[in-house]
Amino acid sequence: MRILLTGKNGQVGWELSRALAPLGEVIAFDREGLDLAAPGQIVSAVRAVRPDVIVNAAAYTLVDRAESEPDAALTINAVAAGILAEEAKRAGALLVHYSTDYVFDGTKDDPYVEEDPPNPLNTYGRSKLAGEHSIRAVGVPHLILRTSWVYTARGNNFFMTILRLLREKNALRIVSDQIGAPTSAGALADATADVLRRHGPLALGELSGIYHATAGGSTSWYGFATQIARLEQAALPQMPPIVPISSNEYPLPAARPKNSRLSNEKLLRCFGVKLPPWEACLEACHAQLRRAGPARNF
Ligand SMILES: NC(=O)c1ccc[n+]([C@@H]2O[C@H](COP(=O)([O-])OP(=O)(O)OC[C@H]3O[C@@H](n4cnc5c(N)ncnc54)[C@H](OP(=O)(O)O)[C@@H]3O)[C@@H](O)[C@H]2O)c1
Repeated sequence: MRILLTGKNGQVGWELSRALAPLGEVIAFDREGLDLAAPGQIVSAVRAVRPDVIVNAAAYTLVDRAESEPDAALTINAVAAGILAEEAKRAGALLVHYSTDYVFDGTKDDPYVEEDPPNPLNTYGRSKLAGEHSIRAVGVPHLILRTSWVYTARGNNFFMTILRLLREKNALRIVSDQIGAPTSAGALADATADVLRRHGPLALGELSGIYHATAGGSTSWYGFATQIARLEQAALPQMPPIVPISSNEYPLPAARPKNSRLSNEKLLRCFGVKLPPWEACLEACHAQLRRAGPARNF
């Protein structure tokens, strides 16, 4: 299987480079090698690689900055996704793409299922929803995996930020009225590879559609931070108190849904794939960081 991977230095892209490797030849691009804002580069890359599968892990992911850069978000998350879809169709390839819990407004009481009507609250969510529409409109064999609250043991994300703040601050004030599933990039990449390994790109084409793919269970950002602190406790000179606050007390440019929970039943039913509970993913990610040793840099 020849797999073209975009966004290889992102959280999910980095983990996909590892997880997809046993499936075949992975030709992975960073932004320098393939800029999604340049349609000509997308066309040339896909035609040169002639992939069986395109996995698009690149995206405009700056949720708050997107409010002042809507065109950039739309270009990368929607226009480029559509061009990738057209090129995938031309190449006879399956397109695997990622989307987000932020396509929903969070007003539902239960976990969202794939058929629930989206209603994004922010520009990033609207651009990702437009990306879903672009791909579906092309009619290419595709899997759109909606995930949530992604983190990993490198770079900038909530997990790494909390580890740093636990050392820098006397107290942490963390939002407790948004509920979702923290999902490690590693677990999402493993699940993606699992789906491809079990079913193959041709069979998957017939199961084209949107699938929710998050870690199991749910918590708030406050609960997530508390669990990170619990795991890190032994390594801390002093444990600062963690105080729950409401979203109103922590205003950001982009509004977020209160309920980000996504039901993963369809992923399990159609593919037999299930991500581990969020606590287990977090423990694995924390252990990975610990193994990196004292030189790790928060
Ligand atoms: N992070 C989350 O909490 C979250 C939640 C739900 C869904 N998702 C979705 O999951 C997928 C993976 O997200 P992630 O967390 O891995 O994001 P990430 O860590 O921000 O990685 C995104 C990657 O896309 C690359 N990129 C940005 N603009 C590009 C362009 N014009 N051309 C080529 N590459 C470009 C970035 O390159 P640079 O390194 O050069 O910037 C980066 O490597 C995305 O579709 C995202 O929307 C993420």
